[in-house]
Amino acid sequence: MTASVSQSKTHIKEHIVTNLFKPSAYSADLVTRYPLIHQGKVRDSFAIDDEHMLIVASDRLSAFDVVLPDPIPGKGEILTRISNFWFERTADIVANHLSGIEVAEVIDDPALLEVLQHRSVVVKRLKPLPLEAIVRGYIIGSGWKDYLENSAICGILLPPGLKQAERLPEIIFTPSNKAAAGQHDVNIDFESIAAQIGQDLAEKIRDVSIKVYRHAVAHAAGRGIIIADTKFEFGLDERGNLRLMDEVLTPDSSRFWPEESYLPGTSPPSYDKQYVRDYLETLDWDKHPPGPKLPADIIEATAAKYREACDRLTSPPV
Ligand SMILES: Nc1ncnc2c1ncn2[C@@H]1O[C@H](COP(=O)(O)OP(=O)(O)O)[C@@H](O)[C@H]1O
Ligand SMILES: [Mg+2]
Repeated sequence: MTASVSQSKTHIKEHIVTNLFKPSAYSADLVTRYPLIHQGKVRDSFAIDDEHMLIVASDRLSAFDVVLPDPIPGKGEILTRISNFWFERTADIVANHLSGIEVAEVIDDPALLEVLQHRSVVVKRLKPLPLEAIVRGYIIGSGWKDYLENSAICGILLPPGLKQAERLPEIIFTPSNKAAAGQHDVNIDFESIAAQIGQDLAEKIRDVSIKVYRHAVAHAAGRGIIIADTKFEFGLDERGNLRLMDEVLTPDSSRFWPEESYLPGTSPPSYDKQYVRDYLETLDWDKHPPGPKLPADIIEATAAKYREACDRLTSPPV
């Protein structure tokens, strides 16, 4: 497979750097022969052929659901590295979407390859299952709200007296449906999922989600990171086999908390986005697009946090 990109080296780099960070300006011609099939807040997907696609992680950062105008240098590569790390480590728990095809096999322009190589993966195009497989080990966010109102999260009854951010007595699976763009996901109970996709498949997803999360929590413990909760996505391959897809256990798909400042009864700071959120709270910004520019020191501190999370998770224990 080859890509024919005929711009000059500098032009290509400029083009990619500009467009990778500006969702609205992104046209389908990043790789002239691979049509853009999806643009998310952070990642862009291109069809390689009927069976494969290229997922490119940009350096875009979203806060309060708004993509900010400034990229965080290195973020896309870090997200890709973290996902690949977990895919490899959990392949014995569940199959995943990685195709084994190198980015260099589908991008032959050297300048383009240089920019894309470490921030992209070639994956199998799967039939996505219509749920977000959320796993929680701690009580926070919408789970905390649900508990205050109903003494339960997604219908799973919990003991009284839990504090905000406290570790749950047991890891729980709290799926939500995938909302259309711009809408918020809605929590649904396990029975509804089973009615939609079948009891066996629903149980399998629940079981492997909990296993993968448990593995990650054990790994991150002692490396200074609490993984409070996370969201997985699954799809079916051409044979109907279940595969883990999308991104896995990154700071973008999970809540990472620094272990050293963890204190139940409060809402812990986010490992990676705290500087940005704290800064944004000092502004008179209504949290609607367009997002404000970030000062250079906030950008650098945030980039450093992403690097630190990646280093801690992926380096051998000391
Ligand atoms: N292997 C795959 N096959 C099909 N769809 C996938 C695969 N991996 C990820 N996706 C989908 O690609 C999209 C990734 O884009 P993302 O930046 O996460 O966008 P969003 O803002 O919609 O979350 C998601 O809609 C995800 O469900
Ligand atoms: Mg996503």
